Amino acid sequence: MAIPQSFLDELKMSCDIGQVVSSYVQLRRSGRTSKGLCPFHSEKTPSFHVYHESQSFYCFGCGAGGDVISFIMRIENLGYIEALKFLAERAGIPFPEEERDDPGLRVKPLIYEINRAAAHYFHNILKSPAGEAGRRYLMGDRQLSAATVTKYGLGFAPQGWDNLRSYLRGKGYTDEQMLLASVVTRGRDGKSVYDTFRNRVVFPIIDLRKNVIGFGGRVMDDSKPKYLNSPDTPVFKKSRNLFSLNFAKNKADGTLILAEGYMDVIAMNQAGFENAVATLGTALTPEQARLMGTYCKEVVIAYDSDGPGRTATNRAVGLLDEAGVKTRVLDMKGAKDPDEFIKKFGRDRFRLLIDGARGATEYGLKAIREKYDLGDAAGKAGYLQEAADYLAGVPSAVEREIYAGKLAEETGVLPEVVRESVGRAARRAARRMEKKTAADLEAGRLGRMPGARPGDIAGDGVIGCLYHHPDWRAKIAAEVSPADFQSPDQRAVYETLLERQKTGECTVTELAGVLSQEQMNRLSGILARVSEGYYSISPEALADYIRRLGAEAQKKEIAAAGELDAGQYQALAEKIRREKQGKRRQGG
Ligand code: UTP
Ligand code: MN
Repeated sequence: MAIPQSFLDELKMSCDIGQVVSSYVQLRRSGRTSKGLCPFHSEKTPSFHVYHESQSFYCFGCGAGGDVISFIMRIENLGYIEALKFLAERAGIPFPEEERDDPGLRVKPLIYEINRAAAHYFHNILKSPAGEAGRRYLMGDRQLSAATVTKYGLGFAPQGWDNLRSYLRGKGYTDEQMLLASVVTRGRDGKSVYDTFRNRVVFPIIDLRKNVIGFGGRVMDDSKPKYLNSPDTPVFKKSRNLFSLNFAKNKADGTLILAEGYMDVIAMNQAGFENAVATLGTALTPEQARLMGTYCKEVVIAYDSDGPGRTATNRAVGLLDEAGVKTRVLDMKGAKDPDEFIKKFGRDRFRLLIDGARGATEYGLKAIREKYDLGDAAGKAGYLQEAADYLAGVPSAVEREIYAGKLAEETGVLPEVVRESVGRAARRAARRMEKKTAADLEAGRLGRMPGARPGDIAGDGVIGCLYHHPDWRAKIAAEVSPADFQSPDQRAVYETLLERQKTGECTVTELAGVLSQEQMNRLSGILARVSEGYYSISPEALADYIRRLGAEAQKKEIAAAGELDAGQYQALAEKIRREKQGKRRQGG
């Protein structure tokens, strides 16, 4: 069936390759590339690369490559159309045409619709006389401005069992449908159905595509539970989403702030710190850590300053570290959480707090120190030992040196002794790292394609130039004939690109439905090698590729003509050359 371009465009927008791949592969991001262990072959060092800019992936180990659709086709073992459906479902985009026939596919859009209607309802109530109590709480007690209330679409669920429900019924939704969205709840008797949120202020939870995926509701007094969150629904997975990431992602500028609660994030926003996110009533998950890693390099953890907050901080540091994200930890004194801190001390002091947040090293050492009684010798020795081991794992030599000095001061042990024990542990750690780096390099060398024929590389180069410079299309088409390419895959990719670029944009995603898996591998391999700097893209490089490709093609033709003597060879070469020139003059 023909897939409408508008659907493909929406899918492309909604399915970031980094995010999709992250559900299957643990990725470490550095700059515009993420790396991980290839899910398509067995390996111990990561040669699987994701290129965020071109939205493609390529494994330098096994040569698998493609766009987000080809990734899903491979990993879920699906055909093209099935993969589109799979991704559409994941993104909550209705699949064209068939959507009406398949109730399974309609559930998500329906839930989004109901959630949106509910969010509007709660928000309008908050602004109406019936929302008086909610307004008093949010704008009075919690000091939120009207702008903040609007920005977050905050709302109020009035007292009573049948407010939202009767509103939604009036809009034509059935109880069954409302139950799918969990905006109503079925009573223990198995019959009655009533509003899930009652007499609470409501925080809509919005995903990156601006869909309302769920709600958090807070009581306005000390009753329990303080916060009630929507349970997981087909569109709401607490472990995969972050509150306010829809705003924070555009303000990250390399750094996100991670807080515990909705109110912290909202208060930070109001104070101008818009790069803040929070989990949704659960502890941070590895998926969320990876998700953050796709939007920032560094996370400032702004958890509560109490005991549980500390434990949660350690856990978050570990998970973010695994996701390749640097961490700093806010050391809040005199306030329990960011919301309270900002209220008490103001935004400027909060800014200082953020800027002064120390790395995880200092925070980690502090946590170790707190385990020991430094007043006695055994405690000191234990602390020293554990701290030295910990410091040895710190990558920066400067940092190690500084903290070794501090450690000596703290414990009264000679600095040389501390340095020596950190040094010993560090050397052990370095040896482990060296082994790993050597293996990484080996994997990287695979990218240079040992044994590749010159014609292959020249052909790849031409395709790379064409892909990245549709504006060079006419020139390239005039000078390079599909027959010049050595490999059938290259030829097919080249012809497809030429054809498709006539009518418009042509990225890997458009090509996923057109190229075979092998051809997709080839194209992604080329894009990967361009990104890694193995192939350069410039008018000069293009001229060189074309020249080399032509020379190779000529050699091939001559070889195909069989044994020739020197004179015949010259004549044939001259003939081919003239033919080529003629073709070039005619234009492609
Ligand atoms: P906290 O209890 O630390 O509250 O919960 P808070 O963020 O400071 O909220 P305020 O300032 O009292 O309004 C932190 C987060 O834990 C989840 C919520 O997501 C909350 O934002 N939580 C808390 C629940 O899900 N249920 C609860 O009963 C309490
Ligand atoms: Mn609070």
